[in-house]
Amino acid sequence: MVERRFAIIGHRAPSNGKLVLNDLSGSSGRMDVLMRAINSALFLSHGIRLDSHITIHLMGGEGPSRRIWFDGSKVWGLHPDERALAGQIAKIIDEPTPARGHWIELHPGIWHSGGDISTTIQEWNKEDVSVIKLDANAPLLWADGSSDNPSKLGFIISDDLPFSSEEEDTLKENTLPRSLGEKWIQGHIAIGIVHHLLDNSISLNLN
Ligand SMILES: C[S@@+](CC[C@H](N)C(=O)[O-])C[C@H]1O[C@@H](n2cnc3c(N)ncnc32)[C@H](O)[C@@H]1O
Repeated sequence: MVERRFAIIGHRAPSNGKLVLNDLSGSSGRMDVLMRAINSALFLSHGIRLDSHITIHLMGGEGPSRRIWFDGSKVWGLHPDERALAGQIAKIIDEPTPARGHWIELHPGIWHSGGDISTTIQEWNKEDVSVIKLDANAPLLWADGSSDNPSKLGFIISDDLPFSSEEEDTLKENTLPRSLGEKWIQGHIAIGIVHHLLDNSISLNLN
């Protein structure tokens, strides 16, 4: 079983304060995109994926950026609908943001911490995760031949906006860019395709 981790950057998603649950796609900074990503990363038709994690990066609003990490092997009591997920996020962003890299568990399997995508990549590097930037313009993620895939893979995706130039600099140095096809698709669909490849032991092109 390949452990897969996803990191999504919410460029305008508020890191602190009140979340407007009735307007996730507007005044909540495309929080709807992040909720769909959580859903795709963690939920099966009936149950939760034990081999999947997702960290959402809330980079918008006032105050320091915040990361929220969901671990499928530990989380319980989570419901897949966007509004229920957003309700969890609303409670979390009402709390003070912990220091960068200091994780505090607020609900079983859900932690928060300060930091940004560079912090997440540093943490993943320490845990021997092979990190891939998902990018439609890169070489294809899957390979023709057969080879063993690494046991831990991390995938970085953006929300509805392109990665910023600062993020691109970090990603260029620390990740392998790979594509799922030449059409730009939505982030949660990209996550679903990654699950399909890994669930079916498709060899990946990581050289
Ligand atoms: C809605 S897309 C972002 C589109 C944004 N306008 C841009 O130019 O980056 C969300 C994320 O899904 C991933 N993605 C979308 N299509 C992809 C593809 N064909 N191959 C690999 N990743 C893809 C990328 O990581 C992208 O940042």
